[in-house]
Amino acid sequence: MQAHFVRGLKCRLCGKEYPLKALNFCTEDFGPVEVFYDYDALKAEVSRQVFERRPDNMWRYRELLPLEGEPTVGLHVGGTPLVKADRLAEVLGVETLWIKNDAVNFPSLSFKDRVVAVALSKAREFGFTTVGCASTGNLANSVAANAAAAGLEAYIFIPADLERAKVLGTSVYGAKVIGVHGTYDEVNRLCSQVVDRFGWGFVNINLRPFYAEGSKTMGFEIAQQLGWRTPQHVVVPMAGGALIGKIHKAFQELAMVGLIETRRCAFHGAQATGCNPISDAVKTGREAHRPVKRPNTIAKSLAIGDPADGYFAAKVIRDTGGWAEDVSDAEIAEGMALLARTEGIFAETAGGVTLAVARKLIEQGRLPRDEEIVLCITGNGLKTQDAVVDCLEKPTLIGTALQEFEALLEKVTEAALV
Ligand SMILES: Cc1ncc(COP(=O)(O)O)c(C=O)c1O
Ligand SMILES: [Zn+2]
Repeated sequence: MQAHFVRGLKCRLCGKEYPLKALNFCTEDFGPVEVFYDYDALKAEVSRQVFERRPDNMWRYRELLPLEGEPTVGLHVGGTPLVKADRLAEVLGVETLWIKNDAVNFPSLSFKDRVVAVALSKAREFGFTTVGCASTGNLANSVAANAAAAGLEAYIFIPADLERAKVLGTSVYGAKVIGVHGTYDEVNRLCSQVVDRFGWGFVNINLRPFYAEGSKTMGFEIAQQLGWRTPQHVVVPMAGGALIGKIHKAFQELAMVGLIETRRCAFHGAQATGCNPISDAVKTGREAHRPVKRPNTIAKSLAIGDPADGYFAAKVIRDTGGWAEDVSDAEIAEGMALLARTEGIFAETAGGVTLAVARKLIEQGRLPRDEEIVLCITGNGLKTQDAVVDCLEKPTLIGTALQEFEALLEKVTEAALV
């Protein structure tokens, strides 16, 4: 068995420490609790070579994840490409642009496979046999897929109006899917009650501190793929606000254990205007966000009106000299189409949000054109096809004769010459 360096849970507000158990909030002040490690011991143990020699998946960084034994769920998650996006960079008018492409994460095509791999491995360590989540879609897909492969029973709670592909991509795995007539925040509240009543392991409720740590691996990979350094800017989509904070924590941890140098990296947050509690807090200079009661956006995966980590996400953005913006549904759809046309990457609505926000920040001068930028693409476009259908040209229909195609080509060429 591997040595483990995780020491316990600590309240992010008052610092009170707790042993490793299925606990989400501090019993003193309801502050969220977070996993902490023995970084001095880690420094002696890990090295770039140790990580590089291992298979290219998220578990190569396992000393920095909160398991006490070997991982047992999601063994192939992570190791997604960091793509140099020169064609997109040219359109956006910037020099150096990268895309971290978690739209092709295994097995369920979003970054949520990272958090679920940790949460369900941890659920097994704790002895849970029934698991679940409250989800805006991608988490539902991932918990259902990974639970099926692990032989765990899964109860998945979602807002009833999610995209068809996200519902189907959950029930296909045999999970029990419960569509709730309400917003994500109402679904989440119901799940807290379900966990209290039935004692199950819900990945983003009582397993949340462990679950959230999985997101760090997106940051570890970015730094390693850049040759063990951080970029000057990252743009991250925000729903509950955990991912942006965990990529930041990942860069800090790599520096703490001596694997990278500390350099300034500005964190920028991306939301949809129809559900923008965190970007609104940043733009209006508020420390705490104002919850959005009725989210209304095509970016359903990001539609969390009262984000659990909203305060910390806004703080990371402020502390690193980044910014946050939000974009309309039309801008989101255009962003999806632009990413596909320039880089051959079909991202979901959250990817459209990230790209459109980056474009806005470039125009505002907050992403300087000569500085290096990484865009975090977190989910796959095949799950949200309706969002983009109206900005695409319809296929041209012809008969089976070659002349019909020739005539068509002539028309196209003439139109191009006009
Ligand atoms: C595709 C996608 N991107 C980004 C996020 C945001 O993650 P977080 O809730 O950690 O802010 C989500 C959350 O559901 C998501 O589904
Ligand atoms: Zn506390």
